[in-house]
Amino acid sequence: MIPLTHRYRRLRKSNAILNLVAETHLHADDFITPLFVTEGNGKTEAIPSMPDYYRHSLDTLLRRIESLMQKGLFNYVLFAKIGDEQKDNTGEFAARPDGLFPTAIQKIKAAFPEITLFTDIALDPYSTFGHDGIVKNGQIVNDETVEALCKMSVVHAQAGADFVAPSDMMDGRVGAIRQALDGAGFQDTGILAYSAKYASAFYGPFRDALDSAPGFGDKRSYQMDIRNSREALRETALDIAEGADMVMVKPALAYLDVISKLKAEFNVPIAAYQVSGEYSMIKAAAEKGWLDEDKAIVETLTAIKRAGADIILTYFSEKAIGLI
Ligand code: PBG
Repeated sequence: MIPLTHRYRRLRKSNAILNLVAETHLHADDFITPLFVTEGNGKTEAIPSMPDYYRHSLDTLLRRIESLMQKGLFNYVLFAKIGDEQKDNTGEFAARPDGLFPTAIQKIKAAFPEITLFTDIALDPYSTFGHDGIVKNGQIVNDETVEALCKMSVVHAQAGADFVAPSDMMDGRVGAIRQALDGAGFQDTGILAYSAKYASAFYGPFRDALDSAPGFGDKRSYQMDIRNSREALRETALDIAEGADMVMVKPALAYLDVISKLKAEFNVPIAAYQVSGEYSMIKAAAEKGWLDEDKAIVETLTAIKRAGADIILTYFSEKAIGLI
């Protein structure tokens, strides 16, 4: 026998011990579930690049939320798929109180006041160019876009959004939105800032879901360069100074280092978004029989939480709560 002082396998002897010494636990309260709303009635539309995930008309969406609530999920982030006839290059439709998005917010909160509803703030679903901002001479213009985002945010707050979640990555939008919300009497509407949002390949399936792929170029003039992490600290510090209540890293799995850095540096709640491409990658490999889907879900979500995320936006929330 080797005289070993430390035998770590003593802590791995049974499930009970493993659970007792586990440093990371996933819980339904960790998750924010993304929802996609579309015009019409009675619709549950498949999204080909996101197997088992659906776009809903408002009526079927309400039923879906009810069933998710019964399973213990109370936090949601809403996205809207906008018809082509309501897309332009001004964001004007995004600020119409009777549009699909505010109507959905209002109906969801009326039906389920106890849930937390986050709403996506960016112009891409409303943009003929599929960009998050207003386009002039082939450029995405910052300050005019921020004005449009402020109007959009106030309309969402009016409709009952608990938190607006600017995902556009324009400079100065968090401070401007905070001011606009306060000015309109919505001091209690919060801001979840997409602070370190990278120009990532992993958003592809989401852009299919919302028909929002950029018509020209890419998003590298506003989303962050994948090569940088110190820049994420600067972006996040600024968003907090401008009034963000919570901050986010996105995507999650390829940016665990960024999540940890933010966690070490800041004391606000840190969210991470396991984005559409991260979802579809696991689904596709599992469909081929190359990965165990359930285990991959738990492993990736655990990694995101272990890295330091307090909150995880994930398309796997419903599945995950059955596995943890
Ligand atoms: C739009 C937005 C995107 C996502 C959330 N909000 C796409 C993009 O920036 O192109 C991606 C979410 C996902 O891939 O799951 N501003």
